[in-house]
Amino acid sequence: MPELANKDACDLLDADHVAVKHLFVEYARLAMVTPDATADREPLARRICADLTVHAQVEEEIFYPALREVIDEPDLLDHATEEHQQAKGLVARIEGLPQAGPEMDELVTRLVQVVEHHVKEERTKIFSKARSAPALDLFALAGALMARQQELEASTPSSPRRRGSRAS
Ligand SMILES: [Fe+2]
Ligand SMILES: [Fe+2]
Repeated sequence: MPELANKDACDLLDADHVAVKHLFVEYARLAMVTPDATADREPLARRICADLTVHAQVEEEIFYPALREVIDEPDLLDHATEEHQQAKGLVARIEGLPQAGPEMDELVTRLVQVVEHHVKEERTKIFSKARSAPALDLFALAGALMARQQELEASTPSSPRRRGSRAS
């Protein structure tokens, strides 16, 4: 996650979106240049799953509930939560695969589609509503998100790289 200074909650969450997009691109690149070396992209798939799990959890625990209190858009947030469930279903299937292979590639491709659609909706609908809600302190919320994210990352052994510096 980026430095906290001058970043609001939407900036922090969107930095995660950008970071996972980079991982998706790298996965697709490996699948294209070395299609048979499926084991090489397995750690990447696991990292994508770990990162998305933490990201969805902090949104559901902290960001969405804070938004529900100040904007009257329950359908929007219910829809976003349903999209999380879709992504979590795919993450669970990827994590449950005994080894990398065509099925993992297929599931990651579907996960990319679900996540990219969801991220687009967060950016265009949810973040704009959050930023126009005067009662919402997005900077305080950023602190809460970051603290919880660090706590979750510290208890996720499969995602050690997240502690300390992040790619974006
Ligand atoms: Fe998000
Ligand atoms: Fe989300």
